[in-house]
Amino acid sequence: MKNTPPRYSKIFFFVLSLAIVLPAAAHGPSGHHDTATATQEEAMKAQHERMRSFKAAMSSLLEAIVDGNGSLARENASRLMETIVGYEKDAPHKNIARIKEFKGFYAELKKRIDRLSEETRSGVIPKTAAAYGRVLETCTSCHAKFRD
Ligand code: HEC
Repeated sequence: MKNTPPRYSKIFFFVLSLAIVLPAAAHGPSGHHDTATATQEEAMKAQHERMRSFKAAMSSLLEAIVDGNGSLARENASRLMETIVGYEKDAPHKNIARIKEFKGFYAELKKRIDRLSEETRSGVIPKTAAAYGRVLETCTSCHAKFRD
């Protein structure tokens, strides 16, 4: 940065501050995010991101299973494994007192994702399909209690 003219760095910091302020302003004044601290806000974002990534991986896995595409199945099982890393920081937004149950669903999901990953490596598609179903069941059980 030694040779950077001062003007350039001013613009840089202006853009940087916009990048920080704008998404916060766009978020709107209502909703449960209102009372959250910055750290909580970060954790919530990470959790939303995790859920989106779960969904993308599960959709691709379904396609892989239906098409009998073993390598696509393995790839997306790995994505699930990577996506669940750090789940211990997640927390429910409702039924907050039942945090233990929430964590229980996550622990079960982790086990089932591990199992699914093993099945994709064995390459037997019907077994992968069954393991997929067990993962999906855990997603929806948690949603029924803590999301919907
Ligand atoms: C331990 C509980 C739990 C498990 C397990 C779980 N979810 Fe979620 N999910 C939630 C909660 C709570 C929300 C709503 C808040 C949020 O988005 O963080 C949510 C939201 C979502 C959303 C909406 C995201 C958004 O942008 O609003 C999707 C999609 C999703 N989950 C997919 C999945 C999939 C697929 C799985 C399984 C691989 C899964 N979830 C497993 C609790 C869970």
